[in-house]
This record gives sequence, C-alpha cells and structure tokens, in this order.
Amino acid sequence: MQKGKEILIRIERVGFKGVGVGVLEKALNEELLDDDIGKKVLVQNTLPGELVLANVSRNKKNYIEARKVKTLEVSPLAVEPRCPHFKICGGCKWQNLPYDEQLKLKQEHVREALEHIGGFENLEEVVRPIIGCSSPWNYRNKVELSFGWDENMEQTFGFHSEGRRHDIFDISECHLMSPRMFEIATSVKGFVEKNNLKPFKFRENAGLLRSLIIREGKNTGEVLVDLLCSGEDFPANLKEEFVEILKNLNVDSVYLTHIKTARGQRTQREDILLHGKEKIEEKMTISRDENDGAHNEQYTFEISPSSFFQPNTLQAEILYKEAIENLKLEPDDTVLDLFCGTGTIGIILAKFASQVIGIELNPDAVEDAKKNAELNNEGNIEFLVGDVGKVLEELENEGQLDKLVGKKIVIDPPRSGLTPLMIEYILKLSPTTISYVSCNPSTQARDLKDLYENGYKITSVQPVDMFPHTYHIENVVGLSKSLGEESKAS
Ligand SMILES: C[S@@+](CC[C@H](N)C(=O)[O-])C[C@H]1O[C@@H](n2cnc3c(N)ncnc32)[C@H](O)[C@@H]1O
Repeated sequence: MQKGKEILIRIERVGFKGVGVGVLEKALNEELLDDDIGKKVLVQNTLPGELVLANVSRNKKNYIEARKVKTLEVSPLAVEPRCPHFKICGGCKWQNLPYDEQLKLKQEHVREALEHIGGFENLEEVVRPIIGCSSPWNYRNKVELSFGWDENMEQTFGFHSEGRRHDIFDISECHLMSPRMFEIATSVKGFVEKNNLKPFKFRENAGLLRSLIIREGKNTGEVLVDLLCSGEDFPANLKEEFVEILKNLNVDSVYLTHIKTARGQRTQREDILLHGKEKIEEKMTISRDENDGAHNEQYTFEISPSSFFQPNTLQAEILYKEAIENLKLEPDDTVLDLFCGTGTIGIILAKFASQVIGIELNPDAVEDAKKNAELNNEGNIEFLVGDVGKVLEELENEGQLDKLVGKKIVIDPPRSGLTPLMIEYILKLSPTTISYVSCNPSTQARDLKDLYENGYKITSVQPVDMFPHTYHIENVVGLSKSLGEESKAS
C-alpha cells in the first residue's frame, strides 16, 4: 500500500508514547491487498475504540504508520478536554481521557514493557497498582512559555503547536500551571506588548525574546521568574518597569538570561539577577515507615534558573519514598546514587545510611547538589562528576572500586537507560539491593533483563504518575541479589 493512501482503522489499544494501535481489516477497507491485511497500524493521538480515517505515512514489513485525518466514531472512553488548546497544543495529549483510564493505560504500559521487552512472566505478585496524583491539575512547579510567531507571522506567547518546532500559539488558559503562574505570564505578556518587544526569529537569528520560565515552590510559595532573551541587549530603560510588575506580584526572584548562539560556537548563557533572591527554595516531606509507625522527614532544596528539579513536587515525594524503601537501608550502609542530578535522592537517604556517593555528568547539577547537601546538614555525602560508566572505570583503575563492592545502589538514568559499560560496572559492584527509577519503561525493561540474567530478581515494581494528562510514566523497580538459582526464577 502506498504512502498517502487513506485507510479506515479501529483503534484497539494505546501503546507506548500514547500511540493508538489497530489492525488493518478487509471489512473496513474493501480494496485492500492481501499483503496488507492484518498488519498493525499505528496512529498518534487516538484512543481505544476510536474509528479513524488515517493517511498512510510509512508502510513497513510488519506495520504501518498513519496520520489521523479525522475521527469517524469517538472512543467510548473519550471525555471533553478541559483546555480549549487541546487540539493544537503539544502538551497534555490525554486530556480527553478520564484520569482513571489514563492510569490504567500507564499501568498496562509498564506491564507490557516488562513482558515483551524484558521477557518477564508471572510478575503479578511484584507489580503494584500505579500511584496516581491526588491533585492532577495545576501540578507543575516549572513552566516555560515561548515568545514566537504563529503560521501567519503574528506575534504570539504560549506553547509550541504539536509537531511544529517553530510555531507558537497564544494561550488563554493552561491547567497544568497554577493560577498564580498564569497571572505572572499574563502580566509579562502585557509588558511585552506595551513596549513593543519582539520575539527572537530562529531562522534569521534576530530579535530579543525567547521564553519565560516560571518556577514555583509548591510547598514554600516562593516564585522565580526568568526572562530568556537572545544575545541582543534588553532595553536598559525597561528593566525597572519589568521588575516592578513582578515585585507587585510578590515574585521572590527575577532573572534576565541572555542565550548567545553563533554558528560553530558553543552556546553561551549569562544569568543576570534583576531582583530578589539568587535561588528559591522548595521543601519536600518524605514519609518513612518504621517499626513504630510512619515518620516524616523534611528537606529543603534550592532551585536556580537552570537547575533540574522534578516538575511535580507532590509526586516526587512519593517517587523518592518508593525509591528509598526498595534499598532496605541499615544505618551502616553505603549507597551509590547513580545519575544523582542535584542530589535529591542521595540527600534524602543520607539520613538513614552511613555514606552516600553521588555520580552525575552535569557539573552545574553537582554544584547545586553540594549546596543542597549543606542546606540539609548532610555531611556524609560526596559527589563525583562524570559519566557513570567512566567514573566507575576510573575508580577501578585507581584501585578504589573494591571498597564499594557489595554496597547498595540507586539508579535514575535519562530516557536512554544504561549503557553496556554501566551495566558491566554495576555487576562488578555486586550490590545487595538496587532501586531502579526510570522515565522510560522500555529501556528500563531492557536493562532489567540484563540484570536478571546476571543474578538479580525483581522484588517490586511501582509505577508512579508524575505527569497527569500526558502519556509519560515513571517507574520504580526494586531488585535484590538472588542467593541461588532457585530464588532467581520468578
Ligand atoms: C532523570 S535525571 C535524575 C536526576 C535526579 N535523580 C533527580 O531525581 O532529580 C537523570 C540525570 O542523569 C544525568 N546524566 C545523563 N547522562 C549521564 C551519564 N552518562 N552519566 C552520569 N549522569 C548522567 C543527567 O544530567 C540528569 O541529571
């Protein structure tokens, strides 16, 4: 079947990345060739039960990719999305699905990945029900709105249109940010329009405004605003007016950031603090079950304009609790926090362990991690900068790796998961327990298979929904070293 051909397809299920999957049927498409009948068809932005007219974009040996042209019958699960921008926004693509149905699909993705990619069977006893977000709207502690142009070259301020890298559409509402964040965004928009400031044009490398980042400590109420500009000068006479507007909205920290790009040169970033605190604070409460009941520990983390922080504070508290419980910590334990970012997981667990070593590629994140450790009075944590595999290799070359053999490990890699070198070293370290946090169930399942084949059994699988109304999912898996072949078989 040729590219561009229109087909009818009934979506049966929604797979990874929210892609709807149906089967090409003769009954719906009378003129089909035998070769194509029964092929899987993948259609983005569809829901189970939906009947769509779709346009074939790729016809591969085992499957077809097609673009939705229109919905002919809506899914019986579909609900009216809350947001008027739902159709064009690249953001929350599952707003038309009730929240409990979103959770069911996410749970299913985790199970499917473990079965099909990891080859695991009989995991019913260890896969726990997904932990949904008790407050699934207005949950984000960070939003970034872009200044740009729409397809008619009208100046806009909002989000990227789905699948169009340079088109920005104006927003009149957004239900993932708080009303306070939205009020700040609206005020900045007014300031930009009044003063006739122009967005940056990527193709021409000209213009001033790139984006606006708003960060809000959900447990502290502190707010940081960062106006990201190009290398052009921000009009000096407007700085005071800009700051005044934000001061009146009780913003704690106001930055102007210049991002300077030039062909063949590294991007340069210059952060200028215009008003208030250099960093805002966010607090997290982690509850821990002890023999005598649950105990709450409070932690404080500093957030600067560019530092990484989990975007949903409420769910991050749950994610971290699960990640730490998997380790079954004893007071004299040493723990390696691999891919530690700004040190959050390691700092939280440092209270319950004797020593923590964090490893992280981004040197700026490590600087933040050191400050966060000080802020929380954790003196038993140190950080190493570099690629996880290479740092462990260096420790081995220096004769230092042996000291870490048999310790416990937390892993929280980016979407790509672990490299063979990283797995090799994790196995050399031979930890008794591992807690593997992942935002990509597919690469996680692939890595778990490797760990399982090398003597680790899965003790728990806990999906956590960090991003309601999107198809993204976070999953925390506990592993322990099998004592013998018998306990290895799950
Ligand atoms: C999913 S984040 C985890 C951050 C942290 N655990 C947290 O919860 O805030 C993954 C981190 O891995 C880091 N990273 C990416 N590739 C890496 C590598 N090859 N070696 C070490 N760290 C890496 C990223 O900079 C990022 O901070």
